[in-house]
Amino acid sequence: MLIAVGTAELSLPTGGGSLTRRLTTTLREAVQTGRLPAGSPLPPSRALAGEIGCSRWVVTEAYGQLVAEGYLIATTGSATRVRGTATPAVMSSGYQLPPPPRPRFDLAPGLPDLASFPRSRWAEAYRRAVLDLPTDLLAGRALVATTAARTTLTDFLRRTRQVQEDPTQLSLTTGSTAVMGWLTALLRRLGHTRIAVEDPSWPGLRGVARRGGLEPVPVRVDEQGLVVGDLRGVRLVLVTPAHQFPSGVALSAARRLELIDWAQRVDGLVIEDDYDADFRYDANPVASLQGLAPDRVILLGSLSKALSPAIELGWLIMPQPLIMALLGLDLDRIISPSPLTVEALAVMIEHGWYEQHLRTQRLRYRRRREQLVTALGRHLPEAATTGLAAGLHLPLRLPPGTAARDIVRRGARLDLGLVSAERYRIRPGGDPSLVLGFGNLRDSRVDEAARRLAQAVRGMD
Ligand SMILES: Cc1ncc(COP(=O)(O)O)c(C=O)c1O
Repeated sequence: MLIAVGTAELSLPTGGGSLTRRLTTTLREAVQTGRLPAGSPLPPSRALAGEIGCSRWVVTEAYGQLVAEGYLIATTGSATRVRGTATPAVMSSGYQLPPPPRPRFDLAPGLPDLASFPRSRWAEAYRRAVLDLPTDLLAGRALVATTAARTTLTDFLRRTRQVQEDPTQLSLTTGSTAVMGWLTALLRRLGHTRIAVEDPSWPGLRGVARRGGLEPVPVRVDEQGLVVGDLRGVRLVLVTPAHQFPSGVALSAARRLELIDWAQRVDGLVIEDDYDADFRYDANPVASLQGLAPDRVILLGSLSKALSPAIELGWLIMPQPLIMALLGLDLDRIISPSPLTVEALAVMIEHGWYEQHLRTQRLRYRRRREQLVTALGRHLPEAATTGLAAGLHLPLRLPPGTAARDIVRRGARLDLGLVSAERYRIRPGGDPSLVLGFGNLRDSRVDEAARRLAQAVRGMD
């Protein structure tokens, strides 16, 4: 039946629960959807009961319930009203919007191949983690997880990244960006106020450091990686030694030693962002810097490039003195991963599934990268690919005088996702370049992506 409540006509269902309940639900939904706007008065209970043809008690019960829930407000001597501060009927548009569709030919860097996420293996590992996790660990998140899982991960990192650590130095994180927040707080507490960062570099980590109170100091990168000789006035540096992001070079052997010497000389610390070191195609991956100087290097790693950012799992290896300082930090601000996720990774490693996945992906990315280089050579010979055969991105130097930003704009009209190298530069200048990500580009779209890129570069859309 239809009932008139203020200016709104509401439909009161004739069946499904008691009349009090149906009336309560109808009125609540009317408030939630905005049909009964904030501040509007409800009819006196006697009048509404008369309209429905029920006892007045039914209406006072419904009003009472909604007052208790905070949808209505009752004031003695005046009408019951819809609460002035009711939840907005329409959520902010930003929240409602679905994520923008990714372009069909997505050459933006950042993602691994999402289609080859090992769903059944991960599901099986997670199932075993759920069945086997010690009951006590169901109490919550743990920075350190079980000793067994930590030992498994530590052994794995020793084997694949040649880190030097014992399991007590390993903390589990929800990813490198997340951990950078509390690491920044820790470093501030230890007296650091500035952090040297590579220029160019990924804005994510240095942005977190800046917001946490560490002033980023840009340092040049050349074909040997970070120019260590330019480090001045700092005792802390954030670096991507295995595969510089975005230039794609590795920190040379001479620079690695120079960096460790610097850290020792200034009593400093090096944060090693080991974000995609699993993927090297022309040689064995360069060992971690942490292995060379465990008392000077903090290593950050995560599953974001190897599996998926959605797993939200990473690790941090810190020198012992920092672990002690950590104990002085308000541990409540540290968000650690679910012990179930940590156990699932341990299962993946113990069964060899994780390394098998890495091998498959290495092959996949190596081929895709070659395919992209070949396609670029065919469609856009005037541009030059640079950087190592590694990782999930490829820097592309454009002909001098090209405006990279215009190419990105034209690319968008061609359903082509592009990112200009300018996005990663702190100081202006440098050759016009793009940073092409091929991690999540379907093999079948590589050639067409290169063709469209050539079209965007030549200004034809
Ligand atoms: C160079 C670099 N470092 C670190 C990260 C952070 O990874 P996460 O916070 O997902 O662990 C990314 C992510 O894209 C990256 O590109």
